[in-house]
Order: sequence, then structure tokens, then C-alpha cells
Amino acid sequence: MLFFKKENIKEATSRIVLIGFKFVLLHKVNGFRTVMINKNTTLKVTVKTFFGLENVLMEELQELGFSKLTKLNRAVQVEVSSWKDVYFLNLHLRCALSVLVEVASFDIKKEADLYQKCMQIDWTTYFTVDKTFAVKGAVFTEVFKHSQYPFLLVKDAIVDTFRKKEGNRPDVNVKSPQVLFDLHISGTKVTLSLNTSGAPLFQRGYREDTGEAPLNEVVAAALIRMSGWDKKTDFIDPFCGSGTILIEAALYASGLPSNIERQHYAFKNFRTFEPEVWDALWNEANLRVSSLPCRIIGSDRSAEMITKSRRNLRRLVIGRFVETSVQDFDEVRITSEGGVMITNPPYGERLEANTEELYKGIGDWMKQELKGFTCWIISSSEVGFKSVGLKPEKKFRLYNGELECSYRSYSIFEGSRKELIERT
Ligand SMILES: C[S@@+](CC[C@H](N)C(=O)[O-])C[C@H]1O[C@@H](n2cnc3c(N)ncnc32)[C@H](O)[C@@H]1O
Repeated sequence: MLFFKKENIKEATSRIVLIGFKFVLLHKVNGFRTVMINKNTTLKVTVKTFFGLENVLMEELQELGFSKLTKLNRAVQVEVSSWKDVYFLNLHLRCALSVLVEVASFDIKKEADLYQKCMQIDWTTYFTVDKTFAVKGAVFTEVFKHSQYPFLLVKDAIVDTFRKKEGNRPDVNVKSPQVLFDLHISGTKVTLSLNTSGAPLFQRGYREDTGEAPLNEVVAAALIRMSGWDKKTDFIDPFCGSGTILIEAALYASGLPSNIERQHYAFKNFRTFEPEVWDALWNEANLRVSSLPCRIIGSDRSAEMITKSRRNLRRLVIGRFVETSVQDFDEVRITSEGGVMITNPPYGERLEANTEELYKGIGDWMKQELKGFTCWIISSSEVGFKSVGLKPEKKFRLYNGELECSYRSYSIFEGSRKELIERT
């Protein structure tokens, strides 16, 4: 179903291109292209993520069967062939922040060009007047003197288009809009997209209880993929806090999407939303899980944090398979031959800690107790990493919120323990 009215089609030159078995309708209006919301169109999608997670997102997209990929800064571009693919990406990607679908791209020379070009887009094809909307994004240009002005112009064009066509205007809701447009200006190039996710995809719907320094869910999922964990060996987090890493590990191991509990997606408010397509995708993804292929073990010295992590785990069917206990990390004893540890200890920034002593203790404990394990630590504390007393095998630079962090791995062999004994 196309949402272009007859009159508009008359005004414009359209051409149909046959790509494989799919029709792509490129709509040419006064010299620039807009993408029509047609079920069977090729859609240009930009999947956004955090700095440093681009490679892991590329890998995830490839695993999900998408091949036409371009790596960008904090994003990956992918061509998809239907709106079903867009729903699929929102549901299945663990390392993505949002999924944008391009609406139009064009060049501008002066401020007035933006409003004029935006008035050539039929915004009524994307949503109905009863939905609230907002325009957000990023602007890197000298065309505009005030950074907020371009957002205002696009908002005005949307409102004016509705008034002209339908005699009524939709309301703006900046805090929680039902429909969200993304405006990106780089120099003279403007790209307008529909943000099909709405609220960022780290809002998974499973975590209501957090501690003072929770790890972002998207970062947690990325750390797990980056570790190369095979989902069979034991997985531990001895500083588990509210349980983000444990939950993402359990979802990953079970094959359930990280967003299985999330209800809100902006695409549900689009004119083109097909509830039956979404319901079928969701039902297919909502696997019945009766066990995990591995042990997932978490601990924290705070009883309050373990209560929170248990509450969060209970929101998911796989939660009951995750073992949690109140323990200081150095009291934790693991009986298995090997596995993976991924942990996010205090950095000495948001949570106070004697960083040197704590990280020296972690290093010593890993060498004593985690023989056969690959241990990964994410932290912003360089002093902390130095105090671990082991040479990292791998290092990645990434961000946890505003904090620049390093993510480092240590393989613990018999030798590391001997070295410790000789040293003491
Ligand atoms: C940065 S937070 C972890 C946040 C967690 N990744 C989450 O998403 O909620 C660090 C945690 O380490 C715990 N902690 C501090 N010292 C500890 C110790 N000696 N042994 C075990 N846990 C400790 C704190 O209670 C806190 O929950």
C-alpha cells in the first residue's frame, strides 16, 4: 500500500526500478528524492550505536543475514528490502541504539532552503494528525547560525504540511514523542530519517531497579560479543550490581532477543505499521526456554544490589537459571575448569573505592581462582588496570555513558598462578 495521494503523483515524476523481484519507487520532486513508505521498497537504514561498538554491530548484522553494510562513525548503514526487516532489526539487534530509515536527502545553500525542501515532502504519508512528534538529531554546518534553528524549520514544515493538507496540525512532544524524525546536517548535505525505534534501544523493558553506577545494556551486550564467549562455558560476573551483564549474557545464551520485553517502538505509530507482521516476528522470537546451555553466576558484596538483580532477573523467563549470591569477590570460589568472566568493578569515579588495592586484589584473585578463564574487565581507571598486575591480551577503547573506558582481557593459565606464588 502506498501512501502517496493521486494529486502528488501527478505533480511528480516517478520511476519504477526493478531490483531483483522488488519494486523500488523513487519519487522525484523538484530535483530531490524522497523515499516513499511502500511495503516492498528498498530502505536505506542507518543503525546507530555507541563509539567503539561499530565493528561488533557490523558482525551482529552479518550474523542476522544482512550483507550490504557500510561502517560509519557510531553507526552502520544497511540496505533492507521491507518494513518487516526494520521491525526485525529493532527486535533482534543487541548492540544498536536506534534504527533510522531515510526519508529524504538533499543539499542546501542557505537557511531558507531547508524549509522550502521540507515543504516538498508529504509528511502526512508517515503519520496521522492524532500522533505527537518531535525532530531531533545532529547538525554540523555553517549554513545555520543557531544550532536549534534547523530543527524548528523542519518542525514548522511538518506542521504546515498537515495544516495545508488536512486542516489540522499534530502536536509536538519533545520528551516522549510517538513519532520521531531525525535530522542530520553535515555541511550542505541534509538527511531526514524516521527514527523507527523512538526511545533508545537500551531501554529493554526488563530493568527497573538499578544501582548508582549501572552499565548501559547496549554496552553490556557488546562486551559479551567482543569477548567471543562460546555460550557453553561458565560465565561469571563477581561485581554484578543490578545484573545487567548477567541478564544480557542469559538472553544471548538462550537465543532470546534482548528486546523481547520491550513494548514501545516508534514504528508502531507509523501509518504503515502492520501489527500482524510484528506479532508474527515477536512470536517467532519468543522462544520457550527450559534451560541454559551453560552456568551464569553473579555476585556482589551488597545485599541490596543482589535483591535488585534478582528482581530484574525475575522479569524474564530465563532469570531463574541465573545463580546469584551476596559475596565479596575474593570469597567467590569457582569449581569449573574454565570459562569467561566479564565484570565492571567500581572505577573510583561514581562509586568510591581504593582503586589500587581493589584492582590488585582482583588480579591476585583471578590468578588464584580463575585458572582456565578468560577474564575481561571494563573500567575507566588506568591506575586500577596497572594494579591488576597482569599483561592484557586485548584492549578496546569504548564509553560507558560519559566515561571513557578500556575493556581488557587476561587469560589465566597455570603459569600466571606460579608467577604469583614466586612473587609473594
Ligand atoms: C560499577 S557497579 C556494577 C554495576 C553493574 N554492572 C550493573 O549494571 O548494575 C560495581 C559493583 O561492585 C560492587 N562491589 C564493590 N566492591 C565489591 C567487592 N569487594 N566485592 C564484590 N562486589 C563489590 C558494588 O556493590 C557495585 O554493585
